[in-house]
Amino acid sequence: MAPLRATLATDLDGTLVDHADSDGGRTALQTLFAALTSSSSSGASRAVTVIYNTGRSPTLYADLAREVSLPPPDVLICSVGTEVLRQGKDIDETWEAHLDEGGWDAQLIRTLVETHAPSATPQQASEQRKHKLSWKLYVESEANALADAVPSWARVIFSTGEDLDVVPSRAGKGNALAFVLREVGADASTTLCCGDSGNDVLMLGLPDVRGCVVGNAAAELVSWFQALDDDARQRVFYDPSLRGATAILAAMKAFELLLEV
Ligand code: GLC
Repeated sequence: MAPLRATLATDLDGTLVDHADSDGGRTALQTLFAALTSSSSSGASRAVTVIYNTGRSPTLYADLAREVSLPPPDVLICSVGTEVLRQGKDIDETWEAHLDEGGWDAQLIRTLVETHAPSATPQQASEQRKHKLSWKLYVESEANALADAVPSWARVIFSTGEDLDVVPSRAGKGNALAFVLREVGADASTTLCCGDSGNDVLMLGLPDVRGCVVGNAAAELVSWFQALDDDARQRVFYDPSLRGATAILAAMKAFELLLEV
C-alpha cells in the first residue's frame, strides 16, 4: 500500500524561520525544502503538503516571504487561525462564516482589555483583523485576568511574554488547522505540527498529530512539552540542540514522514 502523503504544518517566526540564526535561518530553510521536494523527469514537485500557520496578518506574511524567500505554501493560515488562504480555491469565506456564527464583538473586547489589561498597548494597524485584536503586553497577570473576564465566545492567547491576541473561541491555530486538514483530506497521523511558542500549543495538541518543538522554543512551550504524559511525549520531537528548520527536518525523519529519494 502506498504510504499516506505527509503534511507539514508549521509556524513561521522562530520556527520555520529562525531569525536568530547567523543567516536569518535561510540555509536551514533551503535544506528543508530541498528535502521536501523530489525531482522527477517532469520537474520538481513537492512530496509533502505544506501549511503555514502564523500569527502574522497577510501583510506581514508577505513582508517575511519576500525577506527570506519563503517557498509558497499549499495553504496559508494567518492571524492566529482566523484567516485561511488557499491559492485557487477560496476556503476563507467558509471559515469566516464559521467564526461569525460563533459570535464576536470587537468593541466589547477592547473595553474588557482597557479594564483588565490596562498596560496593554495596541499593535500596529495591519495586525488588527476582523477576528483578531492584538496588543503588546508584558504583564502576564493582566493576560490571565483578561482570560477570566472574556465571554465564552472569545479566546485570549498570550505568547512569548509580550504578544496578547484575542480571537473567537472557534479560531486559534488548532481549530483552523483541523479545518484545513479536513479540507485538504490530510491524515492527522501523517501530519507534523511545528512551533516555538504559546500560540502553537493549540495545533501541537490536536488529536493524533505528530509535533515538533524547536530547540529555540520559548519557555512556555518547553514547559508544555515537559508536562506531557509518556504516551503524548512519544508523538512530539524535541531536541534542545536543534533549532528552527533543522529541527523540523530532523522531526520529519524521526517520524518517517519523508520519503527517501
Ligand atoms: C505575529 C503577529 C502578532 C501576534 C503574534 C503572536 O507576530 O503579527 O499580531 O500578536 O504573531 O500571535
